[in-house]
Amino acid sequence: MSEQLSAPPHFFEFHAFVCCNRRPDGHARGSCAAKGSEKLRDYMKVRAKELGIARARINSAGCLDRCELGPCLVIYPQGDWYRITTPADVERVVATQFGGTADDLRLPNA
Ligand code: FES
Repeated sequence: MSEQLSAPPHFFEFHAFVCCNRRPDGHARGSCAAKGSEKLRDYMKVRAKELGIARARINSAGCLDRCELGPCLVIYPQGDWYRITTPADVERVVATQFGGTADDLRLPNA
């Protein structure tokens, strides 16, 4: 008789890493912070709390190596990537947790 193994629940249901890397002005790759990611991260934190998203965590991240596509973030455990440029974009990405869609903001996973 075999025992069924199931994966343990994820500690965070919504764990976003927002790139807040900042490079000097004029750098060839640019940087997400120079494009406003820090304010968008702060906005996402506020909205996740206001919406009562269970076990949400919004973290700052260093460079995620997709600089030219930024400001960017990745959400785990889903592994979904997004480009966010406005608070409205943040609203839509957060709403994906509740069945909304932000497919047009998605970045390819590879
Ligand atoms: S600076 Fe944001 S991904 Fe590199």
